[in-house]
Amino acid sequence: MRIKFIAGNWKMNRTPAEAAALIDAILPLIKDAQCDAAMCVPAVDLHAARERLRSSKVMLGAQNMHWADQGAYTGELSAAMIKEAGASCVILGHSERRQYFAETDETVSKKTKAALAWGLLPIVCVGESREERLSGQTAPVVTRQTRAALDGLSSGQVSGLVIAYEPVWAIGTGLVATDEQANETIGVIRGVIRDMFSGAADSTRILYGGSMNASNAAGLLSQPEIDGGLIGGASLKAADFAAIVNAAGVSRG
Ligand code: 13P
Repeated sequence: MRIKFIAGNWKMNRTPAEAAALIDAILPLIKDAQCDAAMCVPAVDLHAARERLRSSKVMLGAQNMHWADQGAYTGELSAAMIKEAGASCVILGHSERRQYFAETDETVSKKTKAALAWGLLPIVCVGESREERLSGQTAPVVTRQTRAALDGLSSGQVSGLVIAYEPVWAIGTGLVATDEQANETIGVIRGVIRDMFSGAADSTRILYGGSMNASNAAGLLSQPEIDGGLIGGASLKAADFAAIVNAAGVSRG
């Protein structure tokens, strides 16, 4: 059985003081959560967030990192840095990083290996653009991205990590994939993992992300292939994020 996992991706929102206030608003609402939960905050918020999350089971995550342990990479952060600041997971290869910051399948692969080497849980993002979906390229695109990200890993590593299927056309647009579309493409991704690592595919958690909110979460989370959500906008509203986390508890199993 895969325990559901709900992760908030705050993107470039909330200062450290605002992060502390948001976490204080969320925690009482999810104290009975039956799923795993994480908040992936801006790197400068990690310290303040760690203080607030200390007595909870919610994981703290970063949104990116460099693959090198250290060096002349101005403006970048290493796995050791985000880990010491309090992160235990990290989002890698988000479509916004692929689109605006030249992230490639190759850099996502290097970052995934580095995160695992440092004991961080990678949340690896894949997903097709609107044009790719319209031209029938969804399965080949997510297959290529998944293969590239997982190439060279062991099946033990793959069974423990998290993939997030985020169709680019659904991110921040209010256009959510239907329950069936999301379930079908996540099934394709699980098939790729099965092909590469056989049994690991039954353990790897694959989330859906893209305009998931308090109203549509229960339907998506009841699909057999969908193991949770990576939540953008709705993760910044305490009541909405809590509703999604609590919906995941209900549909667990
Ligand atoms: P929205 O939930 O705002 O569409 O963002 C999804 C996302 O990109 C999470 O990583």
